[in-house]
Amino acid sequence: MIKQQLARFDRLDLLGHATALEKLERLSTWLGRDIYVKRDDTTPLAMGGNKLRKLEYLAADASAAGADTLITAGAIQSNHVRQTAALAAKLGLGCVALLENPIGTEDSHYLHSGNRLLLDLFDAKVELVDNLDHADEQLQALAERLRSNGKKPYLVPIGGSNALGALGYVRAGLELAEQIKDSGLEFAAVVLASGSAGTHSGLALALSEALPQLPVIGVTVSRTDEAQRPKVQGLAERTAQLLGVELPASFKVELWDEYFAPRYGEPNAGTLAAVKLLASQEGLLLDPVYTGKAMAGLLDGVGRQRFNDGPIIFLHTGGAPALFAYTGAFA
Ligand SMILES: Cc1ncc(COP(=O)(O)O)c(C=O)c1O
Repeated sequence: MIKQQLARFDRLDLLGHATALEKLERLSTWLGRDIYVKRDDTTPLAMGGNKLRKLEYLAADASAAGADTLITAGAIQSNHVRQTAALAAKLGLGCVALLENPIGTEDSHYLHSGNRLLLDLFDAKVELVDNLDHADEQLQALAERLRSNGKKPYLVPIGGSNALGALGYVRAGLELAEQIKDSGLEFAAVVLASGSAGTHSGLALALSEALPQLPVIGVTVSRTDEAQRPKVQGLAERTAQLLGVELPASFKVELWDEYFAPRYGEPNAGTLAAVKLLASQEGLLLDPVYTGKAMAGLLDGVGRQRFNDGPIIFLHTGGAPALFAYTGAFA
């Protein structure tokens, strides 16, 4: 049902093919539990990551609207802004981004390297703002300003997380469900980082129909369960509505909020240990803001027997370019 409904939406095919689902052999041996990774860090644009899937739908909409500029917002080290700016370059569009410094750092790596460096290479225009507490209004005001200068801006929300963007992760959920069925394995859970919530909402919506027994666990990167739950639930509802389907009865928001402290954009000891472990055991690069926290949750969850029996899937959503902005954290 979801699959047929999804096919009605325009999509720019930027991925080309499914991302791999592969076993992490050495980590699995080390942990005594089989861990698989869904490699959305390898999406094929500008160092990869989850946002390209959302942008397949958002950029198709921008193109239908005749836009000449993509505008969006995020942290100085936002992976979302990097992927949006890269796509704008690829499509011959302009890009303007509002950026905030969520951790108030003056570390020059954070301010100039990593994702921020890449924005300059993509010719994105950057406007630094004190905060993004009213991001929608701030982006609307920017759009108005650009329109008065004769531009045709298209507003990509923070994280690409509206219902249209979340369709990218509905599609990813269906893709993953096929791979799981083909594997013949009974997985215990899928674990992912839950931030602006489009990834979590879209994936959980698709999997609740395709594999209703499979728990989808979002490890929060910036909020408590109480604050994140309505975001994931609300976006899943709006995404189902956009698709013209009911939210399946098995749809459930599962959140682990013990791993994001001290706050968004600041890694803790568990985050850094998880990044180091995956790098040294598997040659796999996580990041200090999202996937490091989600993997720390997975590792702790195994240790504390929070999962059912069976292998676990980690959705790798990308983010490694930010490592170069956090060199001090690993010193
Ligand atoms: C590497 C990475 N992982 C996970 C996420 C979280 O995805 P979402 O914002 O859809 O919750 C992001 C969002 O920016 C990200 O950059």
